[in-house]
Amino acid sequence: MKSCNSFLPLFIALAVLSRSVFCYEIDTYDFLMPNVWPNKDEVYLCTPIRIAPQKNFYVVGFKPNATMHTAHHMLLYGCSEPGSNDSVWSCGEMQSNELDSHYNTASPCASGSQIVYAWARDAPRLQLPKDVGFLIGHDSSIKYLVLQVHYMTKFPAGKTDNSGVFLEYTTTKMPRQAGVFLLGTSGVIAPHGIEHMETACTINEDKVIHPFAFRPHTHSLGTQVTGYVVRRSEKGDTWQVLGSKNPQLPQMFYPVVNTSPIMKNDVLAARCVMNNTHYHTVQIGPTNNDEMCNFYLMYWVENDTPLSQKYCFSAGPPYYYWNRAPEAFDRIPDMDVNIL
Ligand SMILES: *[C@@H]1O[C@H](CO)[C@@H](O)[C@H](O)[C@H]1NC(C)=O
Ligand SMILES: *[C@@H]1O[C@H](CO)[C@@H](O)[C@H](O)[C@H]1NC(C)=O
Ligand SMILES: *[C@@H]1O[C@H](CO)[C@@H](O)[C@H](O)[C@H]1NC(C)=O
Repeated sequence: MKSCNSFLPLFIALAVLSRSVFCYEIDTYDFLMPNVWPNKDEVYLCTPIRIAPQKNFYVVGFKPNATMHTAHHMLLYGCSEPGSNDSVWSCGEMQSNELDSHYNTASPCASGSQIVYAWARDAPRLQLPKDVGFLIGHDSSIKYLVLQVHYMTKFPAGKTDNSGVFLEYTTTKMPRQAGVFLLGTSGVIAPHGIEHMETACTINEDKVIHPFAFRPHTHSLGTQVTGYVVRRSEKGDTWQVLGSKNPQLPQMFYPVVNTSPIMKNDVLAARCVMNNTHYHTVQIGPTNNDEMCNFYLMYWVENDTPLSQKYCFSAGPPYYYWNRAPEAFDRIPDMDVNIL
């Protein structure tokens, strides 16, 4: 397998956009699968780009180049190190350890993994809010971007694919940096019934974060994923919904329903409602027979770096529920909000 370190950028100035008090150039990088051959049904393929290490780039938009007939979903990971040095590898979250005859198998990232973009069914282009960009390169822990495409079906011999994302980026310093915070649980779901999987973490860093998008993720048993910010005071807790979605709908980034800033001592919390229709226990895990409970929150910070805390994971059921958490929450929402 050959190795593949292409460099951002290609210096194709496409437009000079005036988006606020200052102007900056937006370039586009075509981050596409390099003529891959999906060699079986449901295969996940990954391809990397190395970011020029001495420079800073701000990704400000993502324009998908894919169709739902071919691609089930696409994810863009930021990595400190890619999962493989191959130009293409097999990288399924849901794959068992079966060997792939055509591509080597590895996870998307070997270290420093974070999701920066997700696309599924018909999702349009994602434009970050004004003056917001994902910092990648020199001053970021993101040294590589890895594109993962989940293909629906095996391609006929000789037919190849170039699905991917056009990355809109600038080298002008953006005053607002984007970040992603991932909430999730471990745990088990008892047979034949409804389970709530819950997690919550207090923000300890002295930063003001502005939420703008969220993404739900479960496998087949999830019926609702909801994220909250909990404002704490002597009068009690206020649970504000950030976003709520049926995860059986396309698992892309949706706008949050409440953009109020989140500050130190606020709590970020998420709950997944799972309907276990099986007569056996289902656990959290990577394969299709396992489940996942994830809520991704995308936010920006002004003249600051994103939170160094990027994850909030609990032990999940039967060990962790909000009503047993050390924070001693009150006014825990017992009914699930109906915002779809
Ligand atoms: C992606 O873009 C390339 C050219 O930039 C085009 O040839 C290709 O057909 C596109 N693929 C899809 C799936 O839209
Ligand atoms: C890729 O190559 C580098 C340099 O040779 C090596 O340090 C690294 O471990 C390799 N990564 C993988 C996943 O094999
Ligand atoms: C759980 O799934 C079963 C089988 O599909 C369905 O009949 C039931 O209404 C679901 N329960 C809830 C609360 O969604």
